[in-house]
Amino acid sequence: MRPKILVARRVFPEIVARLQQHFEVDHNEGDEVLGAGLAQRLQGCAAVFITGSERIDAALLDACPGLKAVCAMTVGYNNVDVAACTARGVLVSNAPDVLTETTADFGFALMMATARRLAESEHFLRRGEWNRWAIDMFAGSDIHGATLGILGMGRIGQAIARRGHLGFGMPVIYHNRSRLAPGIEAELGARWVDKQTLLREADHLVLVLPYSPESHHIIGATELALMKPSATLTNIARGGIVDDAALAVALAQRTIAAAGLDVFEGEPQLNPALLTVPNIVLTPHIASASIPTRHAMANLAVDNLIAFFTGGKPPTALNPEVHDRAT
Ligand code: DGY
Repeated sequence: MRPKILVARRVFPEIVARLQQHFEVDHNEGDEVLGAGLAQRLQGCAAVFITGSERIDAALLDACPGLKAVCAMTVGYNNVDVAACTARGVLVSNAPDVLTETTADFGFALMMATARRLAESEHFLRRGEWNRWAIDMFAGSDIHGATLGILGMGRIGQAIARRGHLGFGMPVIYHNRSRLAPGIEAELGARWVDKQTLLREADHLVLVLPYSPESHHIIGATELALMKPSATLTNIARGGIVDDAALAVALAQRTIAAAGLDVFEGEPQLNPALLTVPNIVLTPHIASASIPTRHAMANLAVDNLIAFFTGGKPPTALNPEVHDRAT
């Protein structure tokens, strides 16, 4: 009998077709976020294909003892308790690498839109308020030659640094728990600095670090106060890394010049204060959303599922020991 799997959100038909070659597939085509109904829907399932909207914790695992694999199509996995999965012999995989360049493209675009006030000026134009030229009309800050600050220098952070250094002549400073190898720093034109220096010196600060209890509100009122009044902040990492309430205050008081946010605390809800400030660009968590990349992410989750159930090595397991123990 083929194992049953749940695809927890709507995915592309080709992905379902690929899965159906190996599994009995329950596809949540209705696309409602399953939330409390997830455990019920998972009864009888050996695996689940998840996105960022499902929470996999110890309580859910205990309610679904038949579950053997949790395969995420996202690179971030703060919604999955990996330790609880490992303790119960449940494989977890994520989808790194395939979204790096697409996400970096978007991070760079959001940073540029923020610095050059694209959203604010478009809203002005749509409101029909453009009736004359003014020397300082929506004058923003430059990208080229400005100091690019990156907090979290993993794959995506490095891809953004490369764009800034090679494409825009930006001096790059970064803060990360571990320093990059000197050769990579040289290639990216990047200099490691402590967090305070990063905040003080960056003209455009981009956040690309994973969410964890340690990174919760890593940017709050104190950190925002250290930034230049002309600086911008771009968050493409995860909601909760920035204290959104403190950011709304900083934007209203012009402690910093502007912010670009693709992720929010409690998304898809937004802190309403963010909607009251003009100097912000807001997007609904779409940094990895190009058609080819969303296909690649979903296919990588499928690769992991197929490998796990056919005795192969799941390519991007987060707890490969589970697979190694079982083989
Ligand atoms: C990821 O893959 O983690 C992106 O944020 C998309 O959810």
